[in-house]
Amino acid sequence: MTPIGKLEDSRSNGARVSDVRKRYLDFFAKRGHTIIPSAPIVPENDPTTLFTSSGMQPLVPYLLGQEHPEGVRLADSQMSFRAEDIEEIGDNRHTTFFEMLGNWSLGDYFKNKQLPWVFEFLTSKEEGLGLDPKNLYVTVFAGDEASGMSEDTEAVGIWQELFKAKGIDAAFAKIGSEAAGYERGMQEVERIFAYDAKKNWWSRAGVPSKMPAGEPGGPDSEVFYDFGLPHDPKFGAHCHPNCDCGRFIEIGNSVFMQFIKKEDGTFGELPKKNVDFGGGLERLTAATRNNPDVFLVDVFDAARQSLTRRSGKEYTDAEATRSFRIILDHMRAASFMLASGITPGNSEQPYVLRRLIRRSIREADKLGIKEAVLAEVAEGYGAAYADQYPFVAENAAFIREQLEKEEAQFRKTLAHGMRELEKMGQEIDAFTLFTTYGFPVELTEEIAKERGITLDMTAVHAKMKEHQEKSRAGAAQKFAGGLADHQAATIRYHTAHHLLLKALQKVLGPDVHQRGSNITSERLRIDFSSPAKMTDEQKAEVEKIVNDAIDAALPVTRTVMAKEDAEKLGAEHEFGASYPEQVSVYSVGPKEASEADPKFAQAFSIEFCGGPHVANTSELGEEGKRFKIQKEEASSSGVRRIKAVLQ
Ligand code: ALA
Repeated sequence: MTPIGKLEDSRSNGARVSDVRKRYLDFFAKRGHTIIPSAPIVPENDPTTLFTSSGMQPLVPYLLGQEHPEGVRLADSQMSFRAEDIEEIGDNRHTTFFEMLGNWSLGDYFKNKQLPWVFEFLTSKEEGLGLDPKNLYVTVFAGDEASGMSEDTEAVGIWQELFKAKGIDAAFAKIGSEAAGYERGMQEVERIFAYDAKKNWWSRAGVPSKMPAGEPGGPDSEVFYDFGLPHDPKFGAHCHPNCDCGRFIEIGNSVFMQFIKKEDGTFGELPKKNVDFGGGLERLTAATRNNPDVFLVDVFDAARQSLTRRSGKEYTDAEATRSFRIILDHMRAASFMLASGITPGNSEQPYVLRRLIRRSIREADKLGIKEAVLAEVAEGYGAAYADQYPFVAENAAFIREQLEKEEAQFRKTLAHGMRELEKMGQEIDAFTLFTTYGFPVELTEEIAKERGITLDMTAVHAKMKEHQEKSRAGAAQKFAGGLADHQAATIRYHTAHHLLLKALQKVLGPDVHQRGSNITSERLRIDFSSPAKMTDEQKAEVEKIVNDAIDAALPVTRTVMAKEDAEKLGAEHEFGASYPEQVSVYSVGPKEASEADPKFAQAFSIEFCGGPHVANTSELGEEGKRFKIQKEEASSSGVRRIKAVLQ
């Protein structure tokens, strides 16, 4: 177990999360950055990923060269969720949901300006966090022979100057690679370390060789905070900034995003060199408190206290800490998801949400809490985020209702499943537990792991697959992966989504608004506010309106305008989004605009939207495709869900 900080009221020592966020945004605003709002945690039209997992993700089109309506210097605090970290939660610094502070230069300033700003923000008492520079350690890119990239000596020089100005002689060292086992420990004077691409190259896909064509990336430089804990040799013979023992924690990362992977596998320069900085808000707050435990920052206080109240255990009790952390993390993530309109379900985002809830119930059970508790824990987050994300508190009733419902159901499954699992002893049968008791396979796997039992998961999954195919009467629906036109298909569905929303308003009334959406290359899904089930006639009418708009071959255009003007035009808002002063708006139609017949007055639909879209609705009807509603069902109270395809 990684170290636990002293338990003290987070307010008595160091900054609050909201102070750090505000200081950061003010600092970069003062340096010419426009503060943009956080994008929703579910990306609107990016089928490659279920959640927004970094600040740069919603900005990819702009990092690739598209002009951003707010200019070339941007900063924000982005809600982020990393599903791949679910099973890692339990140490003192990982969370699935977190806020990433970001600043971007879109072809404007580069390293020699950005690194000094990062350092100033971290160390300045007046405008920044006032961290002691002696506690800061940095890493740079060592180069990568396979992709022909060289060592980032420029960053080394910049860091040395910055430390020197603070009276610190920062020696540079090559630390080797993880693969080679970091044979050498760090020396007293060393403060700047070069690591290989695995650690100091950033792209969404990882190292250069893993990047798909079209993906941007580049070398990066990370800042670590030294919490001064003794090295734990369990994590390796020597300590160094990237060691996982808990002494050093990464608090920021500046990516010098200047490359793009080409179709032939080589790298080209992006048309403009960008900087993409990401800093973990909770970790930065922990650094101001000189306490490495992110679960002790203020936003967790209320939730932690309710767990203590209900379990009679303290967060610092050795056998309780991990369970506390899992519940604190998962309920915060679940609150943001529910408030964003996701409801628990069996695939994609809804399933991730369901997993978070179920894992929390099991941990609550381990803490000895036998009655429903999650809604109570989640309640604390509405108030903790009232200033920055008021939509969490605004949806408190919905969050409570959903958590209560899910917890009531799963507590029964958990009790039955656990009873059977205990009977199985060492011979745990994950397949039977699932098919007979509905006990989730991955939960069985986790429990087995905790008990040191290895399950043959390949065999379990094969059996599950066979079972699923049988229960679908052999008509397994196979989705073709890796379509050549993957991206194009998704874009078509995105435009179809705009047409559908408008058609729903025409048929069901102007009060219909989007409550959530998810678009892949195979289908689109929309959640919308509407009290009643649609009749077959209404569905047919909606389909006809969409297909007529496709047949009418309407142009789709993007216009950047003041938010106020877009609102005056009645442009449809995205649910859960807040907007900067300058916005991008997509309008569909009219076929031809003239001065006497202006574009927006005659448009079929107008929405606040970052795109991308097809150029003309006729592209949706290529190869004789027609728009079809596959399913219309209840999503949650007052919200209906449609799945639709072009086929
Ligand atoms: N996009 C960079 C990261 O996630 C800043 O670390």
